[in-house]
Amino acid sequence: MLGIETSCDDTAAAVLYGTEIRASVVSSQDHVHSRYGGVVPELASRHHMENVLPIVDQALAQAHVGLEQLDGIAVTCGPGLVGSLLVGVSVAKALAMAQQLPLIGVNHLEGHLLAVLLEQEVAFPFLCLLVSGGHTSLYLAHGWGEYQRLGVTRDDAAGEAFDKGAKMLGLGYPGGRVIDRLALQGDPQAVRFPRAHLKPVPGKVEGTGTYDFSFSGLKTALRQFLATPERGVRRDEDIVASYQEAIVDMLVTTVLRAASDHQAKRIVISGGVSANSRLRRRMTEEGEQNGLRVFLPSLRLCTDNAAMIAFAGEWRLICGQRASFQLNASATLPL
Ligand code: KG4
Ligand code: ZN
Repeated sequence: MLGIETSCDDTAAAVLYGTEIRASVVSSQDHVHSRYGGVVPELASRHHMENVLPIVDQALAQAHVGLEQLDGIAVTCGPGLVGSLLVGVSVAKALAMAQQLPLIGVNHLEGHLLAVLLEQEVAFPFLCLLVSGGHTSLYLAHGWGEYQRLGVTRDDAAGEAFDKGAKMLGLGYPGGRVIDRLALQGDPQAVRFPRAHLKPVPGKVEGTGTYDFSFSGLKTALRQFLATPERGVRRDEDIVASYQEAIVDMLVTTVLRAASDHQAKRIVISGGVSANSRLRRRMTEEGEQNGLRVFLPSLRLCTDNAAMIAFAGEWRLICGQRASFQLNASATLPL
């Protein structure tokens, strides 16, 4: 199975044989967007157009397979930046049409949610915290394709909170990895930042919204802190460690509460922010203290990649699902 992923700013292609990753190539556009402090959609689609075919060729060459040996082509069709998505979808359609191969449209979020299953056996049901630059949601995965969303962010995604925090401190883009590294030398208790605890959404079904997330108050608190005299006496390491701790606290406490309420025994974390070392450590330790098994994808499967897209496409193809050549990109495709 060939997977193609172009939903945001990374161009990726992968070749999968069952759960064996024969090749997984990711071309990052960080150098393109870093000077703007965030992804510029128009630039992202232009770079996808330049990169996508060479990246597909590279993945096929690394896997030592030709297009004619493939069983199918899986492509991310949403959610994401529509211009970026369209590049991948158009290329996948053209290749599938030319080679008469099945085409499978994949939801990017399902790719993240299932990524860990490429490396480890995780029995359903499991609770999955999906934390990336564009999304922060909590799902109860009952089985293949059966995902119940328990919570979602009401404003920024966790990755955005990292990226915007790093930008305020002048640490560059994307900020998650930089904060993670810097925080290793900092004191997470140095500055007390607020944690949002959300109340149910009024007028909705009872319980709705209690597993939601919010990071905008924390972001404001950081901005206000940076304008106080205390900023001058605090090291960047301590500030970012404290800021990161607030994000991790909100994520871990919500997951543990949902696990207890839903009698979940297994926890999966996925998406770019699941690469965060503090989140990985605290989720594992506190999960185990609560009798839960915590499953973490390896770092290359946390951030955007096409192996997870090929994998999500593979099981759908086995179930007989395939997309028509009318397949379109959807910026807001829900999971
Ligand atoms: O999943 P991903 O590669 O792309 C999206 O689907 O959004 O996630 C990218 C996000 C960025 O916001 C980035 O700052 C964050 O993941 N990230 C991290 C770390 N590595 C990447 N955040 C915290 N700690 C990290 N080590
Ligand atoms: Zn992603």
